[in-house]
Amino acid sequence: MAKQEDVFKKVVSHAKEYGFIFPSSEIYDGLSAIYDYGQNGAELKNNIKQYWWKAMVQLNENIVGIDSAIFMHPTIWKASGHVDAFNDPLIDNKDSKKRFRADVLVEDYCAKIEDKENKEIEKAAKRFGDAFDKAQFEATNPKIIEYREKRAAILSRLAKSLEKEDLADVKALIEELEIADPDTGSKNWTEVRQFNLMFGTKLGASADSATDLYLRPETAQGIFVNYLNVQKTSRHKLPFGIAQIGKAFRNEIVARQFIFRMREFEQMEMQYFVPPGTELEFYEQWKKTRLNWHLALGLGEDNYRFHDHEKLAHYANAAADIEFNFPFGFKELEGIHSRTDFDLSAHEKFSGRKIQYFDPERNENYVPYVVETSVGLDRLFLAIFSNSLKDEVLEDGSERTVLSLPPALAPVKAAILPLVKKDGLPEFADKIFNDLKFDFNVFYEEKDAIGKRYRRQDAIGTPFCITVDHDSLNDNTVTIRYRDTMQQERVPVSQLRRIIDEKVNFRTLLSKI
Ligand code: GAP
Repeated sequence: MAKQEDVFKKVVSHAKEYGFIFPSSEIYDGLSAIYDYGQNGAELKNNIKQYWWKAMVQLNENIVGIDSAIFMHPTIWKASGHVDAFNDPLIDNKDSKKRFRADVLVEDYCAKIEDKENKEIEKAAKRFGDAFDKAQFEATNPKIIEYREKRAAILSRLAKSLEKEDLADVKALIEELEIADPDTGSKNWTEVRQFNLMFGTKLGASADSATDLYLRPETAQGIFVNYLNVQKTSRHKLPFGIAQIGKAFRNEIVARQFIFRMREFEQMEMQYFVPPGTELEFYEQWKKTRLNWHLALGLGEDNYRFHDHEKLAHYANAAADIEFNFPFGFKELEGIHSRTDFDLSAHEKFSGRKIQYFDPERNENYVPYVVETSVGLDRLFLAIFSNSLKDEVLEDGSERTVLSLPPALAPVKAAILPLVKKDGLPEFADKIFNDLKFDFNVFYEEKDAIGKRYRRQDAIGTPFCITVDHDSLNDNTVTIRYRDTMQQERVPVSQLRRIIDEKVNFRTLLSKI
């Protein structure tokens, strides 16, 4: 089996080589943790957005979508708590001069203990074969119990110290565990300090009159501050939701894992406004719906798990992450939070405006409660892209790289390929291209041997290759080649639209949710 780092390296290089993702400003040596999406990446990203938007806005008659501005009144970030509390604890290594997130250093230490646990379990599974009872082994094996207790004690102390803002204790924990800079091995650390993640900027022409603004660190606040506008103009009764896709910015201290943690990224968020007292029921419902939405992509049920938050943010009364098995292990993909009435109440207080709903059934006014679903578009892109990238050894011993993307998300749906560049084949193929282009994103190519062209399409995830040959001119049929099976079939040109549509339309995907 390929090592995790090798798989990840392959993902990054494939994304670049095939026009999905480029380091931003590359000719100037790039900008850390900022990336640009290339011609295929932009298509894939737009298709993921469509899948989310259709599932939220089109399938739910009580969810509407908005597009709010990135710049917002600075008081919004005071009200939301971001000015005072949107911090990460950072620590510098005095020798390497590298900066780390103190909590991540401790969490990585615990992840290593977890790796040891998993190795013990794997070894035992091999030893006992079919008779292996995993649950019993985990509950009784002294080594596993010791590892788990150690991990739990460390994480609980970390959580407590962070909650009490006892940063000296976070440093003491790092020292006690003898955690070293992973690159250099140095244990020469500075104190731990809090670091606000928001990017500041200025609005206004002259330096004296300019107002300090922030680039929004989440899209959700654009929804909260528009709650009244949308409720009044859409005339929706509770429960109803507001969805939004947009850019968010965070000055992340540690931003290493490619597009997993970026400084400029996109979120797809939905706030569901509900009557107080019903929020936990809707929270459970959205957890299920969102997991099903992910599962419909067909990336494998075992690659997802819930992580319920034990330590809740002050404004939440329930929270969970949907984690995905990335090439570097299980990590957060989406957050589902029951945020109570915290945000709307805070905006009521700071703006002086009444943000309430008159409930005709209860015959009372109240501030709605909110259940939020929030998924990072770039993280989702990485999940789909890395899971779909496969190296296959074929029956004849040759190899191919294929990106088996869900067909509805593929950047190019079909490639139209004349077998040779003469005898009227390009003209025939061109006609097919010009017909299909109104329905699908199709691609025309006549250069190179057909096998090479197939491989290039496999590598970008094109579900169909359509080859025009000399027989096509006589009987109006073409060869259609399926990406995943590589099987080829002769079909009438008149059937092409139906065959492609059946596989790539969003209905196929959406009806699985
Ligand atoms: N409004 C709630 C909120 O913003 P969050 O857990 O901080 O919650 C939600 O972020 C999602 O946004 C995460 O689950 C993740 O997918 C994505 N996300 C957060 N920070 C990110 C970053 N620096 N780079 C890429 N995606 C990020």
